[in-house]
Amino acid sequence: MENKKVKSILFVCLGNICRSPMAETIMAKVLEDAGLSSEIKIDSAGIIDYHEGEKADSRMRQHAADHGYDILHRSRPVKEEDFYEFDLIIGMDQSNMRELEYKRPSDATARLAMAAQYVTPPQPVPDPYYGGDAGFEFVITLLEEACRNILEMEIQ
Ligand code: 4NP
Repeated sequence: MENKKVKSILFVCLGNICRSPMAETIMAKVLEDAGLSSEIKIDSAGIIDYHEGEKADSRMRQHAADHGYDILHRSRPVKEEDFYEFDLIIGMDQSNMRELEYKRPSDATARLAMAAQYVTPPQPVPDPYYGGDAGFEFVITLLEEACRNILEMEIQ
């Protein structure tokens, strides 16, 4: 797991309007704090293109703002080039992983991982879309831990 050669990370969830843009934004802050912003490329994408071009969900943006984060990302779907352009692609739950495995070209260079492996105890980042405030807060809690560990386990 720890090959520490990661220079680029793509975070992936279903719609790319809640979890993965939040992960990208938190990771950006973690990298900035570590002085590594210019060395590591990060982005996020969705399994589906339903929300393409949209800002993150307003509830996710509000909860993010409460924690000092500003999500600037616009939703976009995962594309074939992503499997060559990123060293590591991190999905949020088992369903994301199944879809990523399905989309992954056989000669892809990206390694796939699930966010669950960067938190203790290992657990998926649950979809907050149809839930309430607690779900959005839990997403932030899990992703803050995951991003700190991604820095430690994959980058530094
Ligand atoms: P996300 O949440 O995968 O964390 O961005 C969702 C956003 C939209 C939908 C589902 C989940 N949707 O069905 O439109």
